[in-house]
Amino acid sequence: MAHRLYDMFMFETSQETWEATLALLHPSPGQKLLDGGTGTGRLAIAIADQVGDEGKVYGVDVSPAMLRQARRQITRTPIADRIELRLGDVRSLPFANGSLDGAAVSLVLELLSPEGTSAALSELRRVVRPGGRIVLAALAEELPYGRTLSFYLVLRGIFRLAALGRPLALRKLATQAGLLARISMRRDLLRLPIDILLCEVPKTAD
Ligand SMILES: C[S@@+](CC[C@H](N)C(=O)[O-])C[C@H]1O[C@@H](n2cnc3c(N)ncnc32)[C@H](O)[C@@H]1O
Repeated sequence: MAHRLYDMFMFETSQETWEATLALLHPSPGQKLLDGGTGTGRLAIAIADQVGDEGKVYGVDVSPAMLRQARRQITRTPIADRIELRLGDVRSLPFANGSLDGAAVSLVLELLSPEGTSAALSELRRVVRPGGRIVLAALAEELPYGRTLSFYLVLRGIFRLAALGRPLALRKLATQAGLLARISMRRDLLRLPIDILLCEVPKTAD
């Protein structure tokens, strides 16, 4: 029940973030793409819509309950065959080196510890082929903090709500992980700033 409510809530609030993520990922027919921390699968469905019958979207999440809700949503679509859900962790991805054409990770990295975020970025770099796109969407470290972000951080501190996530300097973290940071967009989610960053996995000559 909680996951259905979460799904409805996220569906209302996350549309703009997902649309920007999808636009930067720019899926092509036949591609194999990852949606890391897929949650209830809404973004995975939007990606699958663009990869055609030859393409595949892998939705990976650590939560069996989230994956169950994702499966409910996916089976309602006519493109369910294009999506494979896997129980797994973005810090240790169940894919071979360079086996994917690209990846999106939306509203997940900020939930991990600093070490976890770095591990996830290294894993994304490992599993996506050279030249492939990786799109990261996360709570932005906006300096100086605006009123809503400051309020959020105070609340997070008082109630120790680490599960709500910490703001990230996404471009810096991606660059530290050896990714080439390209275009970024800014969107609002519940009046909190979300950065959406397009990165590329370097080719050997980059
Ligand atoms: C805020 S939701 C975002 C879901 C979806 N990506 C979206 O944009 O709506 C965060 C999701 O990340 C998942 N998650 C958290 N830590 C994870 C990890 N280490 N590996 C994979 N998934 C993780 C949670 O189970 C949850 O489904």
